[in-house]
Amino acid sequence: MSQLDHDALPRHVAVIMDGNGRWASQRNLPRIAGHKEGLTALREVLHTFCLLEIPLATIYAFSQENWNRPRVEIDLLMSLLEEFLHRERQTFHERKMRFLPIGRIHTLPSSVQNIVHAIAGETRSFTNRTVCVALSYGGRSEILDAANQLIEDVQCGKVSGPIHETQFQQYLATANLPDPDLLIRTSGEVRISNFFLWQLAYTELYFTETLWPDFRQREVLLALLDYQKRERRFGRLSHAVSLQSQL
Ligand code: IPE
Ligand code: IPE
Ligand code: MG
Repeated sequence: MSQLDHDALPRHVAVIMDGNGRWASQRNLPRIAGHKEGLTALREVLHTFCLLEIPLATIYAFSQENWNRPRVEIDLLMSLLEEFLHRERQTFHERKMRFLPIGRIHTLPSSVQNIVHAIAGETRSFTNRTVCVALSYGGRSEILDAANQLIEDVQCGKVSGPIHETQFQQYLATANLPDPDLLIRTSGEVRISNFFLWQLAYTELYFTETLWPDFRQREVLLALLDYQKRERRFGRLSHAVSLQSQL
């Protein structure tokens, strides 16, 4: 931790937790054992973000496409998730963390919806630290939902065009949240899988071979160290080059 520059930490880290199934297969265990261990890793990762005072983390926990998995895996995943939320409920209060669910929450089993809404409601005022969890989430649907809402608002005269980026952003599930500075994806897959298609425009991407259940505090620190080595140019010239060009 000492090598990290605590003044240059990301404000928003997004995470695609991937590789639970492979972690289990490598051990001849059922896939669900990987999901269980994955939630233990998630607890440790969230704790690390909290220690580092990273104000916002988004966790991609279940995609819209994940509904295409076998029913038995979905059911087990949903009950694990429900159990996890019941267990972590107190932690959100203790750490004064807001729990912000995004995605098509109404498509989740009602017992999951209940605990999701309960924690979200109770922690609404903890705005200094937020854990956003994407559940039944798809980036394209999010953009489409935003566009359709915008059309309605234009039609009823609430808004008029042309629409600017900052206005459009307000229609997304992440309205009022900064875009991620860093995206971490585990398990060696180098893709976005329909996550945050709008929000990742200028995010630094970090891919690691480590499977999600093995992604613990040390791995978080490695990702952050890697992030701190990067120069975020946002289309400008590199700092060194622009100094030279002034000579
Ligand atoms: C990530 O692990 C968890 C979810 C997508 C819910 P996977 O279940 O995708 O694990 P792999 O990719 O099959 O190893
Ligand atoms: C992405 O992982 C979705 C989540 C982590 C929730 P997947 O394992 O579902 O993605 P693909 O199928 O490899 O793209
Ligand atoms: Mg996967």
